Amino acid sequence: MTAIVESTATPTTTSMPRIGDPAPVFTAQTTQGEIHFPGDYAGRWVILFSHPADFTPVCTTEFMTFASMEDDFAAYNTALVGLSVDGLYSHIAWLRTIKDRIEFRDMKDVEVTFPLIDDVSMEVATKYGMIMPGEDSTKAVRAVFVIDPRGVVRTIVYYPLSLGRNFDELLRVVKALQTADAFDVATPADWRPGDRVIVPPAGSCGTAKERMEGAEEGVECVDWFFCTKELPADVVESTIRTGS
Ligand code: BEZ
Repeated sequence: MTAIVESTATPTTTSMPRIGDPAPVFTAQTTQGEIHFPGDYAGRWVILFSHPADFTPVCTTEFMTFASMEDDFAAYNTALVGLSVDGLYSHIAWLRTIKDRIEFRDMKDVEVTFPLIDDVSMEVATKYGMIMPGEDSTKAVRAVFVIDPRGVVRTIVYYPLSLGRNFDELLRVVKALQTADAFDVATPADWRPGDRVIVPPAGSCGTAKERMEGAEEGVECVDWFFCTKELPADVVESTIRTGS
C-alpha cells in the first residue's frame, strides 16, 4: 500500500495573491532596467512568471519558447516578465549563453528581450507565493500570474520544478480571458477562437423558464443552465487582437 506523506513542516505565513486580487506592488531591477510593478504595465495585460534557476535545462527551453512567442503575446497586448531568485549578472550571462549556444527544436539564436527580475532577496517571490518549501525552499516553483490591464490577477498556474510549461495554453488563457471580458461570455473546456461560447457566464442567469424561452437569437439552450452561441473566430480576433 502507498504511504501518505505526513506534514512535518512548521506552518509558514507566506502570502499569495488570489484570483481577483490586485497584483502585489513591487519595484525591482531587471535585465531591462528598473520596473515598477504593476504600474508600469497599466493598460496592458502582463504575464508575470517565475522559474527555478538560471543555467538549468527546463528553464532554458521555457525561456526560448516564451521569447520566440513574445510577438504572439504582444499581438494580444500582453507583456512578459520573468523572475528567478538569481542575480542580474547570472541572468545576463545565462541569456547570453542561450543566444550564443543553445539550440532547441527549431529555435536558435534566441534573444530574450523581455525583463527578467533579479530577486536574490526573494522579496517578490515571497510576495507572490512562488516559494513552496515542500518543493524547494531556495528556488521559485514555475508560477504564472496573468494580470489584466487594471492590475488585477485573473489566472494563476503553478507547475513543479521538473515540469516545463505549455506556452500555447498560456496564450489560449490570455485570449479566453480577453474574449470573456469583451463579449460577456464564458469559454468552455479546451475553447479556442471560433468555438461556441457559453452565455451568459455561469452564475448570472435568470429563471430556468426565462432562460429557455427568452434566449436571444442565435443562442441555443440545451438545458436551463447550458446555453451556447456561435462567436466566429474573425469576430473574436478583430476585437481582441491589437497587433500584427
Ligand atoms: C530545470 O530547469 O531544468 C530545473 C530546475 C530546477 C530543478 C529541476 C530542473
